[in-house]
Amino acid sequence: MVDQPTESNRIKTSTVQPDEEAHINTLFDLTGRTALITGASGFLGQSLARALSEAGARVVVSSRKRKKAEEIAALLKGAAQGSHIGIELDQMDETSINAGFDELLDRVGSLEILVNNGHFPLGADLTDVTGTEFQQLLGNATGYFLLARRFRNWSVSQKKSASIIMLGSMYGVVGSYPETYEGLVPASPVAYHTLKGGIVQMTRHLAVYWAKQNIRVNCLSPGPFPGPQADSEMVKRLCQKSPMGRMGVPEELNGAIVFLASDASSYMTGQNLIIDGGWTAW
Ligand SMILES: NC(=O)c1ccc[n+]([C@@H]2O[C@H](COP(=O)([O-])OP(=O)(O)OC[C@H]3O[C@@H](n4cnc5c(N)ncnc54)[C@H](OP(=O)(O)O)[C@@H]3O)[C@@H](O)[C@H]2O)c1
Repeated sequence: MVDQPTESNRIKTSTVQPDEEAHINTLFDLTGRTALITGASGFLGQSLARALSEAGARVVVSSRKRKKAEEIAALLKGAAQGSHIGIELDQMDETSINAGFDELLDRVGSLEILVNNGHFPLGADLTDVTGTEFQQLLGNATGYFLLARRFRNWSVSQKKSASIIMLGSMYGVVGSYPETYEGLVPASPVAYHTLKGGIVQMTRHLAVYWAKQNIRVNCLSPGPFPGPQADSEMVKRLCQKSPMGRMGVPEELNGAIVFLASDASSYMTGQNLIIDGGWTAW
């Protein structure tokens, strides 16, 4: 005899009929939404901003330099072409974070997506980093948090759902191979590993606290995506450590950012999506 379903043993099935389900293109569509991306002038940021615009979002590009932000915004296309804007925002400065967010609301009036991507870098590694430098690098996490909280509080006050994406790193999950840097360049900074590990964990913490208000928080962690300035010998060594035997190129993050920003990931929060060519798999 088959047990009758009860409240406790019934398998929850969707009540949505197939013909009422959102089409897959609709799930990834960002038309009508606004996305703020920090550090959008950078190597990955430019590509991520492009992806958001191509998916239909109106993009607010931020940089520490207003002119740079405006130049990047002017290059963006998609359904909202012509309405993308650039604003000034320094994530290491709370006053600037608040001023940037206020300006966004004044000029655009709405926000549904935040990509915390900007990064104030540090050259020093574990051999010579000073306490002040270490502390300063960690300030990037403070900036991510303050901007995320500002956005969350506004979204809740407007009864709006939101998607927040933090840029982590494979180096927030694993240590680095010392031999890939030795004799060429400083090691990957200890403060960077500390920072990115903290950002992955902050993502989980905020996701849990804000889930009931429909504020999703996820982390996108790139693996090795060296920019054009990277030491070529170091890049060769990094390739040997990658299961795919090569480095990532920025557009290989584009699908992931649109996924995390859109309804395609509506039941996902508190997660760390690692795009690393298999680096952390072995
Ligand atoms: N590339 C990789 O291999 C890799 C791997 C893992 C994780 N990531 C992460 O991905 C993100 C983007 O990396 P990327 O390689 O594109 O770096 P990038 O080329 O150095 O760009 C970083 C951007 O951050 C902005 N920035 C610097 N200081 C800032 C501040 N105080 N406030 C706000 N923005 C600031 C800069 O823009 P402005 O000068 O215009 O302000 C810069 O364009 C970073 O969070 C990074 O840690 C990168």
